[in-house]
Amino acid sequence: MPALAYLNGEWMAPEAARVPIWDRGFMFGDAVYEVVRVYLGRIWLEQIHFDRLERSLKAVRNPAVDLIAVRQAVLETLTKSGLQEATIYVQITRGVAPRKHAFPSPPVEPTILIVALPYDDAATANLRENGVAMISRPDTRWGRCDIKSTNLLANVLANEAAHEAGAFEAVLIDRDGRVTEATHSSVLWVRDGVVCGSPEGNEILPGTTRRTVLSLIQDTGLSFREERIGLPTLQAANEVLLAGTTIEVLPVIRIDGQPVNGGEPGPVGRALQAAYRRSVQHWLSTGTDNCS
Ligand SMILES: Cc1ncc(COP(=O)(O)O)c(C=O)c1O
Repeated sequence: MPALAYLNGEWMAPEAARVPIWDRGFMFGDAVYEVVRVYLGRIWLEQIHFDRLERSLKAVRNPAVDLIAVRQAVLETLTKSGLQEATIYVQITRGVAPRKHAFPSPPVEPTILIVALPYDDAATANLRENGVAMISRPDTRWGRCDIKSTNLLANVLANEAAHEAGAFEAVLIDRDGRVTEATHSSVLWVRDGVVCGSPEGNEILPGTTRRTVLSLIQDTGLSFREERIGLPTLQAANEVLLAGTTIEVLPVIRIDGQPVNGGEPGPVGRALQAAYRRSVQHWLSTGTDNCS
């Protein structure tokens, strides 16, 4: 099945979709987005993703968007695409207006873009099995990383550095030397049997996968703690994990060339991967995701 795009009320091949140069998403990155995972033709964590989209829109003061209509368009795009294993990208910009920093007055119609893309999990499944390498980079992003905005240049540059170093991700280190998250995934670590992550707040995106993993931690008999740590503590952790919509739970086995857990995926990561799978399977068979 091919990819399918929806742009402002019309469906087309993604290659045919065009936005005007004055679109504020193009000019200013004045846009927010979501990426959802579709398993067997159904959207995983749909409510949580739409709640986060609503929160992002409010945070960028673009609350006039009809999210019920957007959600309907997302579902219609998925149905029309016929895709079973897919991702859906949703982007909402403040719309098209001559280039001026202040919001258009009167407001203009937002640009709504939805793209349903086939997703082949094979390569990622291999990474989940074997683990990935990560490098560290300074976190040069802005002060509102909790908003899922399309201003991703700092993430792009850090991720490219990882790519050039043959690593999968870059863990970002803030000005105080503390771990925040990675360029397109949440970072979790295990110390003394406790799963840990940096505190929620303006410095990190509230990840839907991290949230799911936290709910699974309780079911698995593990516990979770928020803590701020530096890079050396992360490198010395028993295990380090990445969490994200398509990667799910991914073991990190090397940071800046130093092995984590002897360079092998560890038992807590394995337990959480299995719990995550079970959770998806449970939702597919019952319609309940246990996470909302
Ligand atoms: C900076 C950042 N952190 C974390 C995540 C993981 O979020 P989610 O689990 O909702 O995919 C992403 C996903 O794109 C991201 O871009």
